[in-house]
Amino acid sequence: MPPVIQLEDVHKIYDTGEVEVHAVRGVSLTVQRGEFVAILGASGSGKSTLMNLIGCLDRPTRGRYLLDGRDVSQLDRDELAEIRNAKIGFVFQGFNLLPRTSALENVELPLLYGRLRRRAEVTERAVRALEMVGLGDRLDHTPSQLSGGQQQRVAIARALVTEPTLILADEPTGNLDSRTSIEIMDVFQQLNARGITLLMVTHELDIARYAQRNVVMRDGRIVSDEPVRARLCAAEELPRLKAQQEAAQIA
Ligand SMILES: Nc1ncnc2c1ncn2[C@@H]1O[C@H](COP(=O)(O)OP(=O)(O)O)[C@@H](O)[C@H]1O
Ligand SMILES: [Mg+2]
Repeated sequence: MPPVIQLEDVHKIYDTGEVEVHAVRGVSLTVQRGEFVAILGASGSGKSTLMNLIGCLDRPTRGRYLLDGRDVSQLDRDELAEIRNAKIGFVFQGFNLLPRTSALENVELPLLYGRLRRRAEVTERAVRALEMVGLGDRLDHTPSQLSGGQQQRVAIARALVTEPTLILADEPTGNLDSRTSIEIMDVFQQLNARGITLLMVTHELDIARYAQRNVVMRDGRIVSDEPVRARLCAAEELPRLKAQQEAAQIA
């Protein structure tokens, strides 16, 4: 099987009219099926730009990008949209759920955009995705009736439901407290254990330690790319953190 992501000397230059911003400066990166990779780096280092390229939301100015073996570097907008819908699930910092719309309907949505399916099958698959993120008992809740962590789980279910080749998450814990962030890492680790390929941007070093591999960016370049040595397991950290928080309350 081809790598899920293969970037070869990719550049992105934003032309804002007055100045050119060279946001990604010759990035080469290969991600195999089943990996869980975190991209780290200070604000402005080019992480989101790289994610937008990998997510087919934008095209490289220069260089080659093979997504699941297919060269997508020259595709036009419509072709990019098509391949994006088929291959990629997105999770954002701000959840981006439809308000006043149930969790179930939010997760059904990407299936309704896709090729026609039986309505019952759409619902069945959305329910299954919500069960995978531990929200099988919250199908009818709207975003305002859910906590931030639960809203992010709905967003993850929405990313999952099309069975994408790759899930991209840009700062998925940026709006969450530390305990809830680890709960989201727990969901990601469970999905990864099922073979799902995950690429996550974060600027938090401790969150990156739940991934298998850390890629660090600086000024549009990759400056380090290494396996995580003391990898954290969210299912182990959560009870520990809970005990600590309870002890702090007693004291
Ligand atoms: N749409 C855009 N137009 C012009 N410049 C941009 C645009 N998006 C990002 N940039 C610039 O590209 C650089 C990298 O930004 P970004 O990829 O958002 O970094 P990060 O996600 O690591 O904070 C920054 O200097 C930023 O100002
Ligand atoms: Mg960013």
